Amino acid sequence: MSKTVEYIQSKSQGINPTVGIILGSGLGSFVNVLENPISLSYDELDGFPDAGVSGHGGKLHLGKINHTEIAVLQGRAHYYETGVVDAMKIPVRTLAGLGCETLILTNAAGSLMEEAQPGSVMAITDHINFTGVNPLFGEGSNTRFVDMADAYNSDMRSRFHKIANDENIKLHEGIYIWFCGPSFETPAEIQAAKMMGANAVGMSTVPEVILARHAGMKVAALSVITNMAAGMSDEVLNHELTMENAGKGIKDLKTILVRFLELYS
Ligand code: HPA
Repeated sequence: MSKTVEYIQSKSQGINPTVGIILGSGLGSFVNVLENPISLSYDELDGFPDAGVSGHGGKLHLGKINHTEIAVLQGRAHYYETGVVDAMKIPVRTLAGLGCETLILTNAAGSLMEEAQPGSVMAITDHINFTGVNPLFGEGSNTRFVDMADAYNSDMRSRFHKIANDENIKLHEGIYIWFCGPSFETPAEIQAAKMMGANAVGMSTVPEVILARHAGMKVAALSVITNMAAGMSDEVLNHELTMENAGKGIKDLKTILVRFLELYS
């Protein structure tokens, strides 16, 4: 067992999480649904990204939703921050080491589909890694050759759809393409991404999905659509605008996630 896992368990007051969640930009308020969470700063956790760099505070929260014990990572390191592609390796492996068999990722994304407008939510069905880099570079054993078919668990996705239906939420689904950023894409790149079959674009998530599949976890991912991708609307893209647009999507995403966790077994 890693030292980080041991350390967290020494503070966890008996919470043994079975579900890990990684929160994307602007989604940090999800942790408010946890009653009396145990919160640890990334600065206390060996191998976790610098809490400052991750830009969202950088905290691990342990708590419960109904009977489901969960570990929430608020703040992720992005490839564009440091050029280090495996910066989330220890956090993802720590979640697995704590007993999380499932990982749910959330992110903010640009839409390549006219019907998925800012403020909507999309379940990711598959991804395209357009960066050419991989967080398993340097892994020694043959386990590095991870099968990425069905990386996004279809059973969990069906449950998301059922909940969205019951709650009158329109849940889109589609393929997420990972660009490394930090500049936004050009309109030509978005045209190319559309031709490749992508439905949403973002700068995160894919490395964690690869790491989680390598660690044997089941994975699901939800995007909040914060903007139409480059060239698809007259809006000038910037970070503040994307976060401003996220509001309704964040509310719907929280509803789906909380209901999912309430019913998780
Ligand atoms: N491109 C890349 N990342 C993003 C976008 C986008 O349009 N919106 C939110 N994250």
